Amino acid sequence: MIKKGIILAGGKGTRMSPLTKAVNKQLLPIYDKPIIFYPLSILMLAKIKDILIIVNKGELSQYKKILPNGKNLGIKITYLEQESPKGLPDAFKIGEKFIGSENVAMILGDNFFYGQSLSSILKKCTKLKSGAKIILHEVFNPKLFGVAKIDKNKKITKIAEKPKKFISKFAITGLYFFDNLVVKYAKQLKPSKRGELEIIDLINKYKKRKKLSAEFIGRGGAWLDTGSLEDYYKSSIFVQSVENRQGLKIACLEEIAFHNGWIGKKELLSQIKFYGNCEYSNYLKRLF
Ligand code: DAU
Repeated sequence: MIKKGIILAGGKGTRMSPLTKAVNKQLLPIYDKPIIFYPLSILMLAKIKDILIIVNKGELSQYKKILPNGKNLGIKITYLEQESPKGLPDAFKIGEKFIGSENVAMILGDNFFYGQSLSSILKKCTKLKSGAKIILHEVFNPKLFGVAKIDKNKKITKIAEKPKKFISKFAITGLYFFDNLVVKYAKQLKPSKRGELEIIDLINKYKKRKKLSAEFIGRGGAWLDTGSLEDYYKSSIFVQSVENRQGLKIACLEEIAFHNGWIGKKELLSQIKFYGNCEYSNYLKRLF
């Protein structure tokens, strides 16, 4: 079972400037909660309780205000800083000690997932013993993402980062599951032409060794990368529509923790006090 997870929540958020000049992108709202709640909720749904959040140098205090240490969520949150945005695989170098001798999940701080099949997909992924697993989702504009070409047996035959020429409609989402070799492989990578360590190069190390597999989020599920302003606003509208229709919240961290049996009424009350008099607190009051 994978018990450790990393949220990579740094980056400059350049595409969303000036919104991201003073506040890190992952702390901006998607509808009624900060973006970071969404990837964190995914790790919690995967029953991962030991979580490392990697943030930009100098931005730690911003994050600690909203997610101090995880105690009231029944989880353990550790923070580490990234010197500069050197690329996604840098997370495994920064997190080497945190990972230790275990396998690890990583989710990008700006990725949004939703759908009924999600919990069962996550369950499969956390069973990974060796190799790497990526999560694919069909998109209209694949050249904006890492993509994976698959054959009729759903085997991955080719992967590429933001290919100019069409290769596949399956985007590689920002949720990855790796065995412990990921630390060694990350250290072997060299920066690409754009000066970053590339996640596609890391995944390729597994593919070359025939150790790469995929799970699919079908058309009943949603995946949004909130990297562009367009997608960012779309996610808020999406969350607003679903939440207001159902009266249920997406990515309510306390609700997930409560249902997982990690916290009880005491912690819920303490979180209600922490958030103050707001709609989110009113929702928490309805949980017990
Ligand atoms: O969202 C899925 C896509 O994420 C994948 O399909 C691509 O294969 C993958 O390369 C990545 O592409 P992006 O263009 O979205 O990556 P971006 O540089 O925007 O970084 C994604 C998140 O990671 C963002 O929240 C910022 C954070 N980040 C990024 C880098 C490069 C860091 O915290 N540190 C970094 O060094």
